[in-house]
Amino acid sequence: MQWTLSIPNTWVGYAVLPERRIANIFQPLGSQAASEYRIALLALGITGIIFVVVAGLIVFTLIRFRRRRADPSHEEPPQVYGSNQIEIAWTFIPILTVFVLIGVTARFILAIQDAALPRATEHVRIVGHRWWWEVHYPDYGVTTANEIHVPVSIGNESPVLLQLESADVIHSFWVPQLSGKTDLIPGLANTMWIDAHQPGIYSGNCAEYCGTQHANMLLRVFAEPKKDFDKWIAAQRLSANAGAASDRDRAVFESLSCVNCHNVQGTAAHGVFGPDLTHLMQRTTIAAGMIPNNADNLRKWVDDPQTLKPGCLMPGMKLTSPQLDSVVSYLKSLD
Ligand code: CUA
Repeated sequence: MQWTLSIPNTWVGYAVLPERRIANIFQPLGSQAASEYRIALLALGITGIIFVVVAGLIVFTLIRFRRRRADPSHEEPPQVYGSNQIEIAWTFIPILTVFVLIGVTARFILAIQDAALPRATEHVRIVGHRWWWEVHYPDYGVTTANEIHVPVSIGNESPVLLQLESADVIHSFWVPQLSGKTDLIPGLANTMWIDAHQPGIYSGNCAEYCGTQHANMLLRVFAEPKKDFDKWIAAQRLSANAGAASDRDRAVFESLSCVNCHNVQGTAAHGVFGPDLTHLMQRTTIAAGMIPNNADNLRKWVDDPQTLKPGCLMPGMKLTSPQLDSVVSYLKSLD
Protein backbone atom coordinates (compact mmCIF):
# COMPACT_ATOMS: atom_id res chain seq x y z
CA MET A 1 0.00 0.00 0.00
CA GLN A 2 1.56 3.26 -1.10
CA TRP A 3 0.29 5.44 1.76
CA THR A 4 2.61 3.90 4.32
CA LEU A 5 5.54 5.63 2.62
CA SER A 6 4.25 8.97 3.83
CA ILE A 7 3.84 7.99 7.50
CA PRO A 8 6.31 9.97 9.59
CA ASN A 9 8.15 7.57 11.88
CA THR A 10 9.79 9.96 14.24
CA TRP A 11 9.45 13.22 16.13
CA VAL A 12 11.92 15.94 16.76
CA GLY A 13 14.45 14.75 19.31
CA TYR A 14 13.91 11.04 18.74
CA ALA A 15 16.15 8.65 16.83
CA VAL A 16 14.86 7.82 13.37
CA LEU A 17 13.55 4.27 13.38
CA PRO A 18 13.73 2.13 10.26
CA GLU A 19 10.42 0.66 9.07
CA ARG A 20 10.35 -3.13 9.34
CA ARG A 21 7.27 -3.75 7.32
CA ILE A 22 8.18 -7.22 6.12
CA ALA A 23 5.86 -9.58 7.95
CA ASN A 24 8.40 -12.32 7.39
CA ILE A 25 9.19 -15.17 9.77
CA PHE A 26 12.37 -15.82 7.79
CA GLN A 27 13.93 -12.54 8.96
CA PRO A 28 13.66 -12.88 12.76
CA LEU A 29 14.80 -9.95 14.91
CA GLY A 30 13.72 -11.23 18.32
CA SER A 31 14.67 -14.28 20.44
CA GLN A 32 11.33 -16.05 20.13
CA ALA A 33 11.12 -15.39 16.42
CA ALA A 34 14.67 -16.73 16.06
CA SER A 35 13.73 -19.97 17.88
CA GLU A 36 10.69 -20.39 15.69
CA TYR A 37 12.78 -19.71 12.62
CA ARG A 38 15.11 -22.57 13.60
CA ILE A 39 12.15 -24.94 14.13
CA ALA A 40 10.69 -23.84 10.80
CA LEU A 41 13.98 -24.62 9.04
CA LEU A 42 14.15 -28.05 10.70
CA ALA A 43 10.52 -28.86 9.78
CA LEU A 44 11.01 -27.59 6.25
CA GLY A 45 14.24 -29.61 5.97
CA ILE A 46 12.60 -32.85 7.12
CA THR A 47 9.47 -32.39 5.04
CA GLY A 48 11.64 -31.28 2.09
CA ILE A 49 13.59 -34.56 2.22
CA ILE A 50 10.31 -36.53 2.47
CA PHE A 51 8.92 -34.60 -0.49
CA VAL A 52 12.00 -35.23 -2.64
CA VAL A 53 12.05 -38.98 -1.80
CA VAL A 54 8.29 -39.50 -2.35
CA ALA A 55 8.04 -37.31 -5.46
CA GLY A 56 11.26 -38.87 -6.82
CA LEU A 57 9.89 -42.39 -6.39
CA ILE A 58 6.60 -41.41 -8.02
CA VAL A 59 8.33 -39.81 -11.00
CA PHE A 60 10.74 -42.76 -11.31
CA THR A 61 7.82 -45.24 -11.21
CA LEU A 62 5.77 -43.25 -13.71
CA ILE A 63 8.63 -43.23 -16.20
CA ARG A 64 10.15 -46.63 -15.58
CA PHE A 65 6.87 -48.55 -15.58
CA ARG A 66 4.86 -46.55 -18.09
CA ARG A 67 2.83 -48.51 -20.65
CA ARG A 68 4.85 -48.99 -23.79
CA ARG A 69 3.37 -49.43 -27.26
CA ALA A 70 5.80 -52.25 -27.95
CA ASP A 71 4.64 -54.13 -24.86
CA PRO A 72 2.23 -56.80 -26.14
CA SER A 73 1.03 -58.03 -22.73
CA HIS A 74 -1.51 -55.94 -20.84
CA GLU A 75 -1.17 -57.94 -17.67
CA GLU A 76 -0.82 -56.40 -14.22
CA PRO A 77 2.72 -56.30 -12.89
CA PRO A 78 3.48 -58.66 -9.97
CA GLN A 79 1.72 -57.52 -6.77
CA VAL A 80 3.51 -57.59 -3.43
CA TYR A 81 1.50 -58.34 -0.26
CA GLY A 82 2.42 -58.78 3.39
CA SER A 83 6.00 -57.57 3.35
CA ASN A 84 6.82 -57.03 7.01
CA GLN A 85 9.95 -55.05 6.25
CA ILE A 86 8.12 -52.53 4.07
CA GLU A 87 5.22 -52.16 6.49
CA ILE A 88 7.50 -51.69 9.48
CA ALA A 89 9.52 -49.10 7.53
CA TRP A 90 6.53 -47.02 6.49
CA THR A 91 5.01 -47.14 9.95
CA PHE A 92 8.07 -46.35 12.00
CA ILE A 93 9.80 -43.74 9.87
CA PRO A 94 6.76 -41.37 9.90
CA ILE A 95 6.21 -41.98 13.64
CA LEU A 96 9.86 -41.21 14.33
CA THR A 97 9.68 -38.07 12.20
CA VAL A 98 6.55 -36.82 14.00
CA PHE A 99 8.09 -37.47 17.42
CA VAL A 100 11.30 -35.66 16.51
CA LEU A 101 9.23 -32.62 15.44
CA ILE A 102 7.03 -32.80 18.57
CA GLY A 103 10.09 -33.12 20.82
CA VAL A 104 11.96 -30.21 19.27
CA THR A 105 8.86 -27.98 19.26
CA ALA A 106 8.01 -28.82 22.89
CA ARG A 107 11.60 -28.06 23.94
CA PHE A 108 11.51 -24.63 22.28
CA ILE A 109 8.03 -23.78 23.63
CA LEU A 110 9.04 -24.70 27.19
CA ALA A 111 12.30 -22.77 26.88
CA ILE A 112 10.37 -19.67 25.72
CA GLN A 113 7.68 -19.97 28.41
CA ASP A 114 10.11 -20.66 31.25
CA ALA A 115 12.60 -17.97 30.30
CA ALA A 116 13.76 -16.05 33.37
CA LEU A 117 13.17 -12.40 32.60
CA PRO A 118 15.46 -9.79 34.16
CA ARG A 119 14.11 -7.37 36.75
CA ALA A 120 14.30 -4.57 34.21
CA THR A 121 11.53 -6.19 32.16
CA GLU A 122 8.92 -3.66 31.03
CA HIS A 123 5.28 -4.66 31.43
CA VAL A 124 2.65 -3.89 28.84
CA ARG A 125 -1.00 -4.88 29.12
CA ILE A 126 -2.76 -5.20 25.80
CA VAL A 127 -6.52 -5.53 25.41
CA GLY A 128 -7.89 -6.57 22.04
CA HIS A 129 -11.03 -4.83 20.82
CA ARG A 130 -12.99 -5.05 17.58
CA TRP A 131 -10.87 -3.68 15.80
CA TRP A 132 -8.06 -1.99 17.62
CA TRP A 133 -5.52 -2.57 20.38
CA GLU A 134 -5.73 -0.92 23.80
CA VAL A 135 -2.25 -0.58 25.27
CA HIS A 136 -1.47 0.03 28.97
CA TYR A 137 1.81 0.55 30.77
CA PRO A 138 0.71 -0.28 34.35
CA ASP A 139 4.07 0.73 35.89
CA TYR A 140 3.71 4.25 34.51
CA GLY A 141 -0.06 4.79 34.39
CA VAL A 142 0.11 5.30 30.63
CA THR A 143 -2.59 4.29 28.16
CA THR A 144 -2.35 4.44 24.39
CA ALA A 145 -3.57 2.47 21.38
CA ASN A 146 -2.33 0.46 18.42
CA GLU A 147 1.27 1.67 18.60
CA ILE A 148 3.34 -0.10 21.23
CA HIS A 149 6.59 1.53 22.29
CA VAL A 150 9.24 -0.75 23.79
CA PRO A 151 12.94 -0.37 24.52
CA VAL A 152 15.18 -2.22 22.11
CA SER A 153 16.69 -5.27 23.86
CA ILE A 154 20.27 -6.03 23.06
CA GLY A 155 21.59 -9.19 24.73
CA ASN A 156 18.27 -9.81 26.53
CA GLU A 157 18.79 -6.75 28.74
CA SER A 158 15.24 -5.42 28.52
CA PRO A 159 12.64 -7.84 27.21
CA VAL A 160 9.01 -6.78 27.39
CA LEU A 161 6.37 -8.90 29.09
CA LEU A 162 2.98 -8.62 27.43
CA GLN A 163 -0.24 -9.43 29.21
CA LEU A 164 -2.87 -10.17 26.60
CA GLU A 165 -6.60 -9.81 27.23
CA SER A 166 -9.73 -9.27 25.19
CA ALA A 167 -12.74 -7.03 25.64
CA ASP A 168 -14.97 -8.94 23.26
CA VAL A 169 -13.97 -11.85 21.02
CA ILE A 170 -10.79 -13.86 20.48
CA HIS A 171 -7.99 -11.91 18.81
CA SER A 172 -4.39 -12.95 18.26
CA PHE A 173 -1.26 -10.87 18.74
CA TRP A 174 1.31 -11.40 16.02
CA VAL A 175 4.41 -9.45 15.11
CA PRO A 176 6.15 -11.98 12.85
CA GLN A 177 9.69 -10.63 13.17
CA LEU A 178 9.49 -10.62 16.97
CA SER A 179 7.51 -13.66 18.03
CA GLY A 180 4.84 -16.21 17.28
CA LYS A 181 1.12 -15.70 17.83
CA THR A 182 -0.63 -15.62 21.18
CA ASP A 183 -4.40 -15.42 21.48
CA LEU A 184 -6.23 -12.70 23.40
CA ILE A 185 -9.14 -14.53 25.00
CA PRO A 186 -12.09 -12.97 26.87
CA GLY A 187 -11.88 -13.74 30.58
CA LEU A 188 -8.30 -14.99 30.42
CA ALA A 189 -4.96 -13.21 30.67
CA ASN A 190 -2.29 -14.78 28.50
CA THR A 191 1.30 -13.67 28.71
CA MET A 192 4.16 -13.65 26.27
CA TRP A 193 7.41 -11.74 25.99
CA ILE A 194 9.14 -10.02 23.11
CA ASP A 195 12.61 -8.58 22.73
CA ALA A 196 13.42 -6.58 19.63
CA HIS A 197 17.11 -6.99 18.84
CA GLN A 198 17.24 -4.00 16.54
CA PRO A 199 15.54 -0.63 16.66
CA GLY A 200 12.71 -0.19 14.23
CA ILE A 201 8.98 -0.05 13.67
CA TYR A 202 7.77 -3.63 13.47
CA SER A 203 4.50 -4.35 11.69
CA GLY A 204 2.06 -6.83 13.11
CA ASN A 205 -1.60 -7.66 12.95
CA CYS A 206 -4.43 -9.58 14.51
CA ALA A 207 -4.03 -13.21 13.48
CA GLU A 208 -7.40 -14.62 14.50
CA TYR A 209 -10.50 -13.80 12.49
CA CYS A 210 -12.53 -11.52 14.72
CA GLY A 211 -15.13 -9.97 12.45
CA THR A 212 -15.55 -7.72 9.50
CA GLN A 213 -12.53 -5.43 10.11
CA HIS A 214 -10.15 -8.16 11.28
CA ALA A 215 -7.79 -7.37 8.40
CA ASN A 216 -7.56 -3.75 9.55
CA MET A 217 -6.60 -4.52 13.12
CA LEU A 218 -3.00 -3.53 12.61
CA LEU A 219 -0.22 -3.15 15.12
CA ARG A 220 3.03 -1.26 15.15
CA VAL A 221 5.79 -1.97 17.66
CA PHE A 222 8.24 0.91 18.04
CA ALA A 223 11.47 -0.57 19.39
CA GLU A 224 13.62 2.39 20.31
CA PRO A 225 16.78 3.10 22.31
CA LYS A 226 16.10 3.10 26.06
CA LYS A 227 16.54 6.86 26.37
CA ASP A 228 13.93 7.48 23.66
CA PHE A 229 11.57 5.01 25.29
CA ASP A 230 11.97 6.84 28.62
CA LYS A 231 11.37 10.14 26.87
CA TRP A 232 8.24 8.77 25.21
CA ILE A 233 6.91 7.42 28.52
CA ALA A 234 7.57 10.78 30.20
CA ALA A 235 5.63 12.58 27.44
CA GLN A 236 2.74 10.11 27.72
CA ARG A 237 2.42 10.65 31.46
CA LEU A 238 1.55 14.31 31.02
CA SER A 239 -2.06 15.44 30.84
CA ALA A 240 -3.48 16.55 27.53
CA ASN A 241 -1.86 19.65 26.13
CA ALA A 242 -4.77 21.87 27.16
CA GLY A 243 -3.12 25.19 26.40
CA ALA A 244 -2.82 24.56 22.69
CA ALA A 245 -6.54 24.09 21.98
CA SER A 246 -8.86 27.05 21.76
CA ASP A 247 -11.61 27.08 24.38
CA ARG A 248 -14.24 26.96 21.65
CA ASP A 249 -12.78 23.88 19.99
CA ARG A 250 -12.47 22.09 23.30
CA ALA A 251 -16.02 23.05 24.28
CA VAL A 252 -17.35 21.67 20.98
CA PHE A 253 -15.48 18.39 21.48
CA GLU A 254 -16.69 18.07 25.07
CA SER A 255 -20.29 18.82 24.08
CA LEU A 256 -20.39 15.90 21.65
CA SER A 257 -20.84 12.25 22.50
CA CYS A 258 -17.16 11.63 21.61
CA VAL A 259 -16.48 11.88 25.36
CA ASN A 260 -18.64 8.84 26.10
CA CYS A 261 -16.23 6.56 24.27
CA HIS A 262 -12.88 8.32 24.41
CA ASN A 263 -10.63 9.41 27.24
CA VAL A 264 -8.57 12.60 27.20
CA GLN A 265 -6.58 12.81 30.42
CA GLY A 266 -7.34 15.94 32.43
CA THR A 267 -10.60 16.75 30.63
CA ALA A 268 -14.27 15.80 30.83
CA ALA A 269 -13.72 12.96 28.35
CA HIS A 270 -13.56 9.73 30.33
CA GLY A 271 -14.87 7.10 27.90
CA VAL A 272 -13.10 3.76 27.76
CA PHE A 273 -14.91 2.12 24.87
CA GLY A 274 -12.69 3.64 22.19
CA PRO A 275 -8.97 4.46 22.01
CA ASP A 276 -7.47 6.92 24.53
CA LEU A 277 -6.89 10.22 22.73
CA THR A 278 -4.78 12.04 25.34
CA HIS A 279 -1.65 12.07 23.17
CA LEU A 280 -3.28 11.24 19.85
CA MET A 281 -0.86 13.31 17.81
CA GLN A 282 2.09 11.28 19.04
CA ARG A 283 0.72 8.34 17.13
CA THR A 284 1.64 8.00 13.48
CA THR A 285 -1.56 6.31 12.33
CA ILE A 286 -5.26 6.26 13.10
CA ALA A 287 -8.00 3.65 12.64
CA ALA A 288 -5.67 0.91 14.03
CA GLY A 289 -2.83 1.44 11.61
CA MET A 290 -4.95 1.94 8.50
CA ILE A 291 -4.14 5.54 7.57
CA PRO A 292 -1.54 8.17 8.48
CA ASN A 293 -2.49 10.46 11.32
CA ASN A 294 -2.87 13.92 9.76
CA ALA A 295 -5.48 16.66 9.70
CA ASP A 296 -6.97 15.52 6.39
CA ASN A 297 -7.44 11.92 7.50
CA LEU A 298 -8.67 12.92 10.95
CA ARG A 299 -11.35 15.02 9.30
CA LYS A 300 -12.41 12.21 6.97
CA TRP A 301 -12.36 9.74 9.84
CA VAL A 302 -14.44 11.82 12.25
CA ASP A 303 -16.82 12.81 9.45
CA ASP A 304 -17.64 9.20 8.65
CA PRO A 305 -15.57 6.29 9.97
CA GLN A 306 -17.89 3.92 8.15
CA THR A 307 -16.53 4.98 4.75
CA LEU A 308 -12.94 4.23 5.72
CA LYS A 309 -13.60 1.24 7.94
CA PRO A 310 -17.07 -0.18 7.24
CA GLY A 311 -18.54 -1.97 10.22
CA CYS A 312 -16.25 -0.36 12.79
CA LEU A 313 -17.91 0.50 16.08
CA MET A 314 -17.43 4.27 15.78
CA PRO A 315 -20.54 5.81 14.24
CA GLY A 316 -20.65 8.67 11.76
CA MET A 317 -21.67 11.57 13.98
CA LYS A 318 -23.26 13.69 11.24
CA LEU A 319 -21.35 16.76 12.40
CA THR A 320 -21.71 20.09 10.66
CA SER A 321 -18.70 21.46 8.86
CA PRO A 322 -17.88 24.01 11.61
CA GLN A 323 -18.23 21.27 14.25
CA LEU A 324 -15.85 19.08 12.24
CA ASP A 325 -13.37 21.94 12.01
CA SER A 326 -13.46 22.39 15.76
CA VAL A 327 -13.13 18.68 16.58
CA VAL A 328 -10.20 18.23 14.18
CA SER A 329 -8.50 21.34 15.46
CA TYR A 330 -8.96 20.09 19.03
CA LEU A 331 -7.62 16.63 18.15
CA LYS A 332 -4.63 18.24 16.44
CA SER A 333 -3.77 19.92 19.75
CA LEU A 334 -3.49 16.57 21.58
CA ASP A 335 0.24 15.98 21.34
CU1 CUA B 1 -8.83 -9.04 16.07
CU2 CUA B 1 -8.75 -10.47 14.16
